[in-house]
Amino acid sequence: MDMVSLNIDYDRPVKIAENIYWVGFADSEGRLQCNPYLIIDGDEAMLIDGGSRPDFSTVMRKVLQTGISLSQIRYLVYQHYDPDLCGSIPNLESIINTSDLKIISHAENNPFIRHYAPKSPLLCIDKLGGNISLRSGRVIRFFRTPYAHSAGSFITYDQNTGVLFTSDLFGSAGAFNYWKLFATLDNACSSCIISPPSHPDEPCSETEEPCPWTGMHSFHRRIMPGNKQLHHAMGVIETIGARIIAPQHGSILYRPEDISAAIDRLKNMDDIGIDGILPPKRAFK
Ligand SMILES: [Fe+2]
Ligand SMILES: [Fe+2]
Repeated sequence: MDMVSLNIDYDRPVKIAENIYWVGFADSEGRLQCNPYLIIDGDEAMLIDGGSRPDFSTVMRKVLQTGISLSQIRYLVYQHYDPDLCGSIPNLESIINTSDLKIISHAENNPFIRHYAPKSPLLCIDKLGGNISLRSGRVIRFFRTPYAHSAGSFITYDQNTGVLFTSDLFGSAGAFNYWKLFATLDNACSSCIISPPSHPDEPCSETEEPCPWTGMHSFHRRIMPGNKQLHHAMGVIETIGARIIAPQHGSILYRPEDISAAIDRLKNMDDIGIDGILPPKRAFK
């Protein structure tokens, strides 16, 4: 399917794979674009990185527009504990209001998530054995990506559809006027080795649009602690072989050539976080 050619109504939930929906919104005010996702599986549903407090009403409207009832939401997954994904937990807890609701994250995140979530049981992906089986038998797998960017950061993989939810990994920020839910990397971009624009809003001299790699680079440079953590996470992702990369910021990657180009770029970035601040190590004479 050529997703990019579809005329997408961003005011509605957007299907990204069979029974998986983007339930965020296109942020025209230039804040950090956030992408919560909903997996519907029979009479169960799982909300991934549900969003901030200001985003709650829009996210909830879109969840309901998919046709599910709130009591179907059994799992809230939080791939780390930042406010842009966790801020609406108190609202979700009180509106869903069932004893079945469980929050899935990692033990490193849960003491922080508890400050948002006074009621729900907090499960740890390690204690779950790295996966959870839904009632239908569908398996959702979790992979740790430590310190990319939080100690307890992880990513979530739906084996049925090949969608990998990567949270801040593959995120991008800036150039909000050009934002699209599905990335359309120009062939010229995938192989581009010319020096890219220095700011995410600055247009590329070839495509006259902001450079997707500059946006991704700038975001990872600021959000991730260092080269080692980012490169390790890319190594984990390479072993999964995902068909679709669905990040919490920026755009979804769905073409195999774009996914491998993005992994390659991120693996080779060498000025991430502290590594972009400290001078390179010099050998002792
Ligand atoms: Fe984050
Ligand atoms: Fe984030």
